Amino acid sequence: MPWSCILCRHSIYSCLRCYCFGWWSIMDCKAGKKRFYNYQYFTQTSNGLPFFRDNLQKLISDFANKGFTISEMVVLSGAHSFGQAQCFTFRDRIYNNASDIDAGFASTRRRNCPSRGGDTKLAPLDLVTSTSFDNNYYKNVVQKKGLLETNQILLSGGSTYDIVRDYSKNPTIFKRDFAAAMAKMSDLSPLTGQSGVIRRICSSLT
Ligand code: HEM
Repeated sequence: MPWSCILCRHSIYSCLRCYCFGWWSIMDCKAGKKRFYNYQYFTQTSNGLPFFRDNLQKLISDFANKGFTISEMVVLSGAHSFGQAQCFTFRDRIYNNASDIDAGFASTRRRNCPSRGGDTKLAPLDLVTSTSFDNNYYKNVVQKKGLLETNQILLSGGSTYDIVRDYSKNPTIFKRDFAAAMAKMSDLSPLTGQSGVIRRICSSLT
């Protein structure tokens, strides 16, 4: 959830792996389900999560370790249809002049993300529609305008290339598959007994 990462940005936990808050709390939003307390949530779930510098094989194996197929990994990454990322997470990508980035896009992003400093400056993960949930994220990736290296890398591998292209063309199939993968994620590692709390407001970490 975006709000979890936003919380993270402004807290003492603004570490490199803060993004883990984002996806682990999204998958934890079934009504009435038990959840971790605030900081417990971070410390107990951050291990083994993908990192923004991971290569494709590492991403695939991280998701496989949680029981997800390659297709499910690609569709879940579509959560980057909204929200923002901090400069330090995409700086290397926009300054290294790699061939897998659109030159105009890199230049635009450099305007608000200096090569040094400004680590927390933000850019939308979805260039086109950063506040709505749709398949534009995949269209961006196809055009080499994925913000994170881990977004763009999905277009590099044979196994993920076709899936990205399919979702870029078919928003209905994307939304259907995304919902199914989110439901599956929601059922991972449920807390029972005295562990965790049931939140009245899903988005509140306290
Ligand atoms: C493929 C592995 C993934 C990697 C490497 C990754 C990495 C990142 C990074 C680096 C950010 C920016 C965080 C920041 O700068 O504060 C981010 C944001 C976000 N991620 Fe992921 N992510 C992954 C998968 C997922 C999944 C599976 C979901 C949800 C199902 C997700 C949902 C989000 C959301 C909603 C944001 C925006 C947060 C905000 O605006 O505060 N991510 N992710």
